[in-house]
Amino acid sequence: MSEVLLEIRDLHIGIARRHGADEIVRGVNISVAPGEKLGIVGESGSGKTLTMLAVLRLLASPPLSVLKGEILLDGEDLAHVDERRLRQVRGGEIAFVYQDPMSSLNPLLLVGRQIEETLKAHGVTGAAAAQRTGEVLTQVGLADPDRVRRSYPHQLSGGMIQRVMIAMALATSPRLLIADEPTTALDVTIQRQILELVTSLQEETGMAVLWVTHDLGVVASLVDRVAVMYAGRIVESATTEQLFARPTHPYTSALLQSLPGTGSSHRSPLHQIGGTPPDPTRLGAGCPFRVRCPFAEERCAQAEPDLIDRGQGSLAACWKDPSQW
Ligand SMILES: Nc1ncnc2c1ncn2[C@@H]1O[C@H](COP(=O)(O)OP(=O)(O)OP(=O)(O)O)[C@@H](O)[C@H]1O
Ligand code: SF4
Ligand SMILES: [Mg+2]
Repeated sequence: MSEVLLEIRDLHIGIARRHGADEIVRGVNISVAPGEKLGIVGESGSGKTLTMLAVLRLLASPPLSVLKGEILLDGEDLAHVDERRLRQVRGGEIAFVYQDPMSSLNPLLLVGRQIEETLKAHGVTGAAAAQRTGEVLTQVGLADPDRVRRSYPHQLSGGMIQRVMIAMALATSPRLLIADEPTTALDVTIQRQILELVTSLQEETGMAVLWVTHDLGVVASLVDRVAVMYAGRIVESATTEQLFARPTHPYTSALLQSLPGTGSSHRSPLHQIGGTPPDPTRLGAGCPFRVRCPFAEERCAQAEPDLIDRGQGSLAACWKDPSQW
C-alpha cells in the first residue's frame, strides 16, 4: 500500500458563466495517508464542500466543473475511471457523510433496510447484510440497535440519526470517511460527540478521516493535521499541534482568536475577524485576505503568495513570516 491514500493535486473548480468559467476553487492540494485524520477548516463559501464533491465526481455539472487537476485514490485517477468503478469507490472505498441527515435518509424506509440497501449496492446481501447492519448499529453506540433498525428516520432523535449516518458509512468498511459539516445544521456539542465517536471507530478500523467544518474548535484535539481554506485555496497546512501553538497565517491566527478560551495565548490585534469573506470569483490581484488583514502591506496588494514553508511542517500562503507580524 502506498503512503498516500487520497491525493488531490492542483484542483481547480469553475462555474460556467456567459463569458467563460469563473474559478471558485483555485489550486487545492490535499493528501491523506492511510489511517490519517485530517481537518479541513474554513468560513462559509471557502470551497470546502465543492472540493469534497469533486473527489467523488459529484459536482453539479453544469454549471460547476473541474477545470484542472487530479484526484488520485491509491494512484488511480478518479477522473478517468468508468461509472462501474466509480460506484465501487462511492460508498465503498470512500464513504461520504453529509451531516444534513434528513436530506440523505429516505423518510419512507426503515433505517435497517436503508443500511442493507447500501450493503447490497456493494455486493453484500441476505443474512450477511442483516448481520453487518446489526454490527454497525451496535458499533456506533446506539443503546437499542434492534429498535433503531426497525424505526423510520422521523422516529429517532437528531443525535441518533447522526449515529445511523455514521453506521451506514461504516457498513462497507471504507478506507476513507469524508464528513462534511454544513455551517448551520448542527449543534457544536453534537458535532464534537460525533467526531469523538468517529475517532474511536477510526482507531479500531484504521480508516482515514477527512473532517470538514467551519469550526476550528471542533477538530482541535481530534485530527492529526489541519488544512485551512480561504477564498478557494488552502492558506495554511500544519499539524494540529503546530497550528494551535504557532499559527503561521494571519487568518488562522484570527480563527484561533475567535475561539472561546484560547484568545489569551496569542497576542495579535485580531480579536474578531472583521469583514466578510471575499467572493472567490471577484478577487483581483494580491492576497485575498488583505482587506481583513492587520499586517497587510504594499506587496500584499500586488501578488498572491503561494504556500511557503514556515518550518516544523507548517506551510502558509502569506508574504510575512509570523515574526514580522
Ligand atoms: N451549484 C452552485 N452554483 C453556483 N455556485 C455555487 C454552487 N455551489 C457552490 N457555489 C459557490 O461556490 C462557493 C464555494 O461553495 P462551497 O459549498 O464549497 O463552500 P463551503 O466552504 O462548503 O461553505 P459552507 O461552510 O457554507 O458549507 C460559494 O461561494 C458558493 O456560493
Ligand atoms: S500576504 Fe499580506 S495581506 Fe495576506 S495574510 Fe499575509 S500579511 Fe496579510
Ligand atoms: Mg460546505
